[in-house]
Amino acid sequence: MALLLLLLLFTVSAVSADEGAFIGVNIGTDLSDMPNPTQVVALLKSQQIRHIRLFDADRAMLLALANSGIRVTVSVPNNELLGVGQSNATAANWVARNVVAHVPATNITAIAVGSEVLTTLPNAAPILVSAMKFIYSALVASNLDKQVKVSTPHSSSIILDSFPPSQAFFNRSWDPVMVPLLKFLQSSGSPLMLNVYPYYDYMQSNDVIPLDYALFRPLPPNKEAVDSNTLLHYTNVFDAVVDAAYFAMAYLNFTNVPIIVLESGWPSKGDSSEPDATLENANTYNSNLIRHVLNNTGTPKHPGIVVSTYIYELYNEDSKPGPVSEKNWGLFDANGVPVYIMHLTGSGVVLANDTTNQTYCTAREGADPKMLQAALDWACGPGKVDCAPLVQGQPCYEPDNVASHASYAFDTYYHKMGMGSGTCYFNGVAAVTTSDPSHGSCIFPGSGGRNGTFINGTTFAPSSNSTVAGSAQRFHVDVRSYVAMGILVWIAVFL
Ligand SMILES: *[C@@H]1O[C@H](CO)[C@@H](O)[C@H](O)[C@H]1NC(C)=O
Ligand SMILES: *[C@@H]1O[C@H](CO)[C@@H](O)[C@H](O)[C@H]1NC(C)=O
Ligand SMILES: *[C@@H]1O[C@H](CO)[C@@H](O)[C@H](O)[C@H]1NC(C)=O
Ligand SMILES: *[C@@H]1O[C@H](CO)[C@@H](O)[C@H](O)[C@H]1NC(C)=O
Ligand SMILES: *[C@@H]1O[C@H](CO)[C@@H](O)[C@H](O)[C@H]1NC(C)=O
Ligand SMILES: *[C@@H]1O[C@H](CO)[C@@H](O)[C@H](O)[C@H]1NC(C)=O
Ligand SMILES: *[C@@H]1O[C@H](CO)[C@@H](O)[C@H](O)[C@H]1NC(C)=O
Ligand SMILES: *[C@@H]1O[C@H](CO)[C@@H](O)[C@H](O)[C@H]1NC(C)=O
Ligand SMILES: *[C@@H]1O[C@H](CO)[C@@H](O)[C@H](O)[C@H]1NC(C)=O
Ligand SMILES: *[C@@H]1O[C@H](CO)[C@@H](O)[C@H](O)[C@H]1NC(C)=O
Repeated sequence: MALLLLLLLFTVSAVSADEGAFIGVNIGTDLSDMPNPTQVVALLKSQQIRHIRLFDADRAMLLALANSGIRVTVSVPNNELLGVGQSNATAANWVARNVVAHVPATNITAIAVGSEVLTTLPNAAPILVSAMKFIYSALVASNLDKQVKVSTPHSSSIILDSFPPSQAFFNRSWDPVMVPLLKFLQSSGSPLMLNVYPYYDYMQSNDVIPLDYALFRPLPPNKEAVDSNTLLHYTNVFDAVVDAAYFAMAYLNFTNVPIIVLESGWPSKGDSSEPDATLENANTYNSNLIRHVLNNTGTPKHPGIVVSTYIYELYNEDSKPGPVSEKNWGLFDANGVPVYIMHLTGSGVVLANDTTNQTYCTAREGADPKMLQAALDWACGPGKVDCAPLVQGQPCYEPDNVASHASYAFDTYYHKMGMGSGTCYFNGVAAVTTSDPSHGSCIFPGSGGRNGTFINGTTFAPSSNSTVAGSAQRFHVDVRSYVAMGILVWIAVFL
């Protein structure tokens, strides 16, 4: 009976702390002195970048990424798309060579099939969906279809009438492609990939779009954009474009396809016709974008629905043709020196150099106590946080309430995970803060140099009034792994 209860407790309290949005980075390679793959991976690690997108499936790069823990989106370049879309065998071969050969050592999580095909390679549009389906069936044949998503990134310019967002629709010429494409994404559980460039929206708007609105800067209330159909307020271009995509999908009756932004950024330098491509604007845009995404705010249409985003891009690509701005979208130069130091206080570590300030992860104010309790149970159980200091008589027992205990456990987990993006989420009940929550003899990890590894024996938090009912439907539950975990803990506690 005790075992059964314990198992139930563990199965229902399994909150995945990793469900929050993440920030990734695109890696273009058009540099005159492109660092070698080992150097690239060293930079990614030192900057704690855990999600990347490659524009191809370069073998040396994929080998260098092996066992790094970094999640990788690979791409079928446009010049290989026709072959893949016309032949199942070519697609199967592509997957064998570029995916099967590298997993699981290299954690390939998605394949971007082509790039902005409808707008840059419209003659390949008729075979785009077959290419995706061929790739997908090759993944199914290798039993990789659950862990590797298949999608294709679109330019946001295929969305017409995008303000107000509620009136947006995909360019109707592309309905014969978009409808089967969305059906495929829906049935395979893959996201719509969207490239969102408020810089270009702003540049092309003839001063209709204020710069502040593109840069996520606060607007005076009278300048805030309001969608007159939905009365939703828009405070930045990024959210408006993402919502326009949701509405455009809904217009075609697709309401459950998530969105991932595969490219977004701002150039730090331009020629005389690009006066807003500046260091300061690039820093402001990317800093605000990262804060916005990692806050798990969602958009006005779908608050709280995360929109993970890949920044364009890691390096300045000096060999790119075109205007000066084309060569200056990077966060780093070829030597790995940052082009600018972002202002990321309060968003956790994404880029090691950005966070000179210490951050902590604590319970969100006003969070539902039941959800906090479930998250606390998860942290002290499957999350492997040592919650001994929360036991009666130990330094962090007082104040004895769920928010205070959860804060301690969240912060310990967050520091144990290197303050990585997505590790201060706990189904939305946790938030990053800069004020040190330590009190009395209760020292929080991250404070005064002490870290998250703890002391003397394992026990888990007094599950104060933890109820099995109530939180059961709220969380994703992987019964199998936590049953195993439950048994281990049971043995540890009761033997
Ligand atoms: C690979 O990435 C996925 C998605 O983030 C994650 O769930 C999985 O644990 C990772 N696998 C490894 C071996 O790191
Ligand atoms: C493509 O090949 C896969 C096996 O790799 C097979 O399951 C699928 O039916 C094939 N599709 C077509 C259209 O031939
Ligand atoms: C819609 O797509 C078609 C086909 O690519 C293109 O010719 C047309 O200009 C697009 N319409 C708009 C308003 O962008
Ligand atoms: C969407 O669904 C509505 C109601 O079922 C239907 O009237 C409409 O034709 C559908 N639109 C499309 C594009 O399938
Ligand atoms: C973060 O999220 C909270 C709650 O969802 C919201 O009130 C706040 O404005 C957001 N902050 C930023 C910087 O987006
Ligand atoms: C931070 O950036 C400097 C160059 O500005 C570099 O020398 C240093 O190694 C970086 N630190 C980390 C932890 O990446
Ligand atoms: C912490 O952040 C504040 C505000 O962003 C900044 O003024 C201060 O210099 C930072 N502290 C350190 C040690 O860099
Ligand atoms: C647990 O239950 C007791 C009595 O029912 C109550 O006084 C106490 O505040 C509860 N503790 C928490 C953390 O909810
Ligand atoms: C963290 O704590 C462990 C155990 O007390 C210690 O070995 C380690 O050096 C500490 N790390 C830091 C960065 O303080
Ligand atoms: C851990 O236990 C040992 C022996 O029981 C004790 O001497 C030590 O002070 C404890 N450490 C902490 C941090 O409580």
